[in-house]
Amino acid sequence: MSYILVTGGAGYIGSHTVIELVNHGYKVVIVDNLCNSSYDAVARIEYIVKQHVPFFNVDLRDSDALDKVFKQYDIQGVIHFAALKAVGESTKIPLQYYDNNIGGTISLLNVMKANSVKTVVFSSSATVYGDATRFENMIPIPEHCPNDPTNPYGKTKYMIEQILKDIHTADNQWRSAILRYFNPIGAHPSGLLGEDPLGIPNNLLPYLAQVAIGRRDKLSIFGNDYDSHDGTPIRDYIHVVDLAKGHISALNYLNKLETGEGLFREWNLGTGKGSTVFDVYHAFCKAVGRELPYEVAGRRGGDVLNLTANATRANTELKWEATLSVEDACKDLWKWTTENPFGFNIDNYKWQVFNDDKSDYSNRLHTVSFANGFKVSLANRGALLQSVVKNGTSVVCGFQDPSRYIEKSNPFFGTTVGRVANRIGGAKFELNGNTYQLAANEGANTLHGGFHGYDKQTFFGPVAKQEKNGDKVVNTFLFKYEDKDGNNGFPGDVECVIKYTVDDESVGIEFIGSHLETSPAEATVINLTNHSYFNISGTDSTDGTVVKAITNTQLEVDDSLLPTGKFVPTHTDITKPTKIGPDCAFDYCFVVNEAGSGIDTRSDELKPVLEATHPNTNIKLVAATTDPAFQLYTGTGIDTPGFKPRSGFCVENSRFVNAINVPEWRKQVIVKRGETYGSKAKYTFVDA
Ligand code: NAD
Ligand code: UFG
Repeated sequence: MSYILVTGGAGYIGSHTVIELVNHGYKVVIVDNLCNSSYDAVARIEYIVKQHVPFFNVDLRDSDALDKVFKQYDIQGVIHFAALKAVGESTKIPLQYYDNNIGGTISLLNVMKANSVKTVVFSSSATVYGDATRFENMIPIPEHCPNDPTNPYGKTKYMIEQILKDIHTADNQWRSAILRYFNPIGAHPSGLLGEDPLGIPNNLLPYLAQVAIGRRDKLSIFGNDYDSHDGTPIRDYIHVVDLAKGHISALNYLNKLETGEGLFREWNLGTGKGSTVFDVYHAFCKAVGRELPYEVAGRRGGDVLNLTANATRANTELKWEATLSVEDACKDLWKWTTENPFGFNIDNYKWQVFNDDKSDYSNRLHTVSFANGFKVSLANRGALLQSVVKNGTSVVCGFQDPSRYIEKSNPFFGTTVGRVANRIGGAKFELNGNTYQLAANEGANTLHGGFHGYDKQTFFGPVAKQEKNGDKVVNTFLFKYEDKDGNNGFPGDVECVIKYTVDDESVGIEFIGSHLETSPAEATVINLTNHSYFNISGTDSTDGTVVKAITNTQLEVDDSLLPTGKFVPTHTDITKPTKIGPDCAFDYCFVVNEAGSGIDTRSDELKPVLEATHPNTNIKLVAATTDPAFQLYTGTGIDTPGFKPRSGFCVENSRFVNAINVPEWRKQVIVKRGETYGSKAKYTFVDA
C-alpha cells in the first residue's frame, strides 16, 4: 500500500489537507516536529476521518530519522508544508528561517532522492511576488509575474522553488507542483481544527477572532489611506478547506502524467476575488453577531495595496476552483474559536505516550489536574479511566505500566465495555429473523463483548476541551471507536463515542453508540458501560467499605449467572448501610427501574444509585446513572499481580443482563439502523 508523506501535517493547512487526502482515498503518513503545532491536531484528524494516521515527531533536518520513515512506508509522493512562516519573525532571526526552511527542504529532497521518490507538492506563497503593484497590469497576479520577495521568509520560499526547478532540470523525472497560496483563512467546518497561533497573532482573522473571544481589546487596522474602495488593502482570502483540496488536485495532476514524465510548474491558489480589510472585518462581525472594537492605526511596514490571485491556471489545468466564500470562512472560524477559545491549549491538561514504544502516539495517557488536587487520567486504549486521585488518595485501580493492560489477568480495569456489556446467554441471539452466533469467551456465554471487546480497542482522539464558568473548570474528552459489522459476531456498523466530563470532584461518562445509516444490518444490539474498580479506603483492600444503594432488587440469576427473568431481593438489604468484605460480597445486577428503558437514556434523570464511604478516609463516592440497572461487583475474582481479591469494587451502569434474549427486556438494547444508543454515568468524590 502506498502513502503520501505530509511534512508539517500537524499544522494549520497541513491538518486540513490530511483530511482531504484521506477523504479522497489516500493513505497518509505525517512528519512534524511540532515546533508550531500540537499533536492534538493529529488526534482530531483521526477522530474526524476515523482512521489511524501514522505520525512521526521528526525534524526534517534529521535525515536519518526521516529516512527511517521512508524505509518503513512505501512513500509515493510528498506534500511539503513544514516551514517557519512568520514574516516579521523572519526579519529578526533570518538564519533560523534559512536553516529550517531551506535546510529542512534539502534534507527532505535528499532522502526522497535516496528512496527514489520524485513527486512533491510544495507550499509556496504569494509572498514570492513581492509588491506586484510595481508593475502595470499584474493584478490579479498571474504565475508569470516576476518574483521579488521582500523578507527572509519569502526568500526561503523563492529559493526552494529555484532548488526544485534546478533538480527538475537535472533530472526531468522529478514532478514538482509549486502551489502559491494567497491568504488562507477559516477553519474546518467540524469546529475541531483551525489555526492556533502562538503568542500575538500577526494575521488579520486570527487577531480578530481573539478580539471577538475577549483575548485582545481591539483590532488595529493598518492603514485606511490605500487606493481601494474603503482605503484598506486588498487580499485574496481563501478558505483553508478549498486550499487543502487544491493539493489533492495538484497531486492527482502529477499522478496522471505519463510514466517517466516529469514536471516543474507553479499554480496560484486563490479565489481570484479581492477583499479589503474592512470587507473581512464586516463579514466576521456578521458571523459573530456584533460589532467588534477596532481602531485605524498607521500602515504596517511591508504591506502592499493589492495581492489578488489570477487563479485561471489552477482552474483550467488542475480543474480546481475555490467554492467557499469569505462569509463561510468567517462562520467556520467563529465556530472553531468559540469551541476552542485557546486553540489546542488547555492549561490543566497534559498527556504522555502510554506505550512501551514511545514513538507510537496511538495510546496516550491524558491527565487533567485541578487546583484542589483532584486529578484524573484517561487512556486511548479502551477509552479507559486509569487513575483518579482525591485528597492524595488513589481511588481507582489502574496499572502504571501500559503493557499490564493487555495481560489476560487484567479484570477490565477502568475500561469501556461493549458492544454488549455483561453476559449474552449461549453466546447467541435472534434479531429480525436472523440468529447471530457470537464467540463464547466465558463458558457457553459471551461476556463483555467477546474476545475483542471495546476494552481491547485503541480509541481515536481524544478531542480534549476545557470550559470555564467563573471559577469552575470543566474538561471534556471525546474518544471514538468504529466497531464494524461482524466484529465479534455482532451485526451492523456502530460508531462508539465515549465522552468524559471531568471537574474538580467528579468524572462523568457519556456512552454513545450510533448504529450508522450506512450499516448493512437493519438492527443491532448495544449495551455500554465502564468497568472501573473503585477503592476509597486508602489501602490495597476495599474490605470495610460501607455501601448504600437506592434499590435492593436484583435480577435473579441461574448457575451460569444468566437472569431467570425474576426480580428478587438481594442477600443483604443494601438500601441500608452495608459493610462489604469477604463475608458480604456482591456480583449482581441491581434494578433501578423495573420497567427497563428505551435505547437512549441520556435525557433521563442522572440518578444517584449508590454511595460508598470507608472509615479510613473522609472520601464519599456517589455513583449515578441514567440507566435502569447497575452491576455491583465487589471484586472477589480480581487475580492480577499487584492487586488482590476485593482491591476494588465496580458500579457498572447498564441495561438488564442478557436483555436481548428476554422478550420483555429486548427493547432496552436493540438499536435500529440510524438510531443512537445512549446513557450516562457519573462518579462524584466528595468529602464524607
Ligand atoms: P503551520 O506553522 O501551522 O504548519 C507548519 C508545520 O510545520 C508546523 O506543524 C510545524 O511544527 C512544522 N514544522 C516546521 N518546521 C519543521 C521541521 N523542520 N521539521 C518538521 N516539522 C516542521 O503553518 P501553515 O499555516 O499550516 O503553513 C503551512 C505551509 O504553508 C508553510 O510552508 C507556509 O510557509 C505556507 N504558507 C502559509 C500561508 C499562511 O498564511 N498560513 C500562506 C502562504 C504559504
Ligand atoms: N491587518 C490589519 N490588522 C492586523 C493584521 C492584519 O489591518 O492586525 C491587515 C494587513 O495590513 C493586511 C491584511 O490585514 O492588509 C492581511 O494581513 P495578514 O497579516 O493577515 O496577511 P498578509 O497579506 O500580510 O500575509 C499573508 C501571510 C504571508 C503570505 C501572504 C500571501 O502572512 O505569509 O499572506 O498573500 F505570504
